[in-house]
Amino acid sequence: MKNIAVIGAGTMGNGIAHTFAQFGHKVNLIDISKESLEKGMGTISKNLDRMVAKEKISEADKEATLNNITTHIDIPSGVKDVDLVVEAATENEDLKLKIFRQLDENCSKDTILASNTSSISITQIASVVSNPERVIGMHFMNPVPVMKLVEIIRGYNTSDAITKTIMELSEELNKVPVEVNDYPGFVANRILMPMINEAIETLYNGVAGVYEIDTVMKLGMAHPMGPLQLADFIGLDVCHSILEVMYDGFKNPKYAPCPLLTNMVRAGKMGVKSGEGFYDYS
Ligand code: CAA
Repeated sequence: MKNIAVIGAGTMGNGIAHTFAQFGHKVNLIDISKESLEKGMGTISKNLDRMVAKEKISEADKEATLNNITTHIDIPSGVKDVDLVVEAATENEDLKLKIFRQLDENCSKDTILASNTSSISITQIASVVSNPERVIGMHFMNPVPVMKLVEIIRGYNTSDAITKTIMELSEELNKVPVEVNDYPGFVANRILMPMINEAIETLYNGVAGVYEIDTVMKLGMAHPMGPLQLADFIGLDVCHSILEVMYDGFKNPKYAPCPLLTNMVRAGKMGVKSGEGFYDYS
């Protein structure tokens, strides 16, 4: 499991590429534009600098990590001869299905195909691949270089052997893998998103303000971030789309996104990445 391709150089993709490269894997980082790749590499370099400054790694480790990453702007060249692909593209089902069809055409039949999806069905993604037993969810948490969990999602057809390989690989990255089954939101977001949605509902109902809600959860429950700050950090569009997947998947109104969240997404307030969400980042 030496050569890895990571599709998507955004927040999750660059963190995943960083982590594999830091642990000695050769990584092909793939995105559709040179600008996205440059931005992703810039973020990796900055996060490595942060680790050097904290004396977690040396300057030589930083250089070795960066040297392990090669960038590609198309899938066929990026997935040639890799043992594992980790897809971390935008959270959109049609896009993911399109990418997995391309992976099916361009990868060797032995290549393991993983998705970092936070809620889209692994079984659905695997349905467009000729041998779906090699498709698995490898759901990293943000910020990837720091967070210990990898949620490993078994699709309906995922084999025991592939699951074992991916669990062991995650441990080699100094992460803690947890195996879960493929139902909407898996485990992480099935529990996290209703909490975030309820925090937004609490704000929407005028029970308390942003600062008050986050402070209650930070100081009262020892969460590192309050739920509204965490929603901004994850991206309000991402939170909205995960809630929609669960609402649709379970047909249960308890997962319906709060109207305030829907309005903020429509208004382009996506959180940290757009400069404004529940907090102002400009
Ligand atoms: N890369 C590398 N290191 C990073 C980093 C990054 N992007 N971001 C932070 N760090 C490191 C810092 O260097 C620091 O290291 P030390 O402990 O060695 O000093 C450590 O992480 C803490 O960082 P800071 O001191 O700057 O800030 P902090 O104490 O406020 O912690 C945080 C930042 C780790 C993000 C913390 O606020 C936190 O844990 N927040 C919650 C994160 C969370 O819940 N993530 C899951 C989101 S859900 C998800 O990702 C999945 C989904 O499907 C939606």
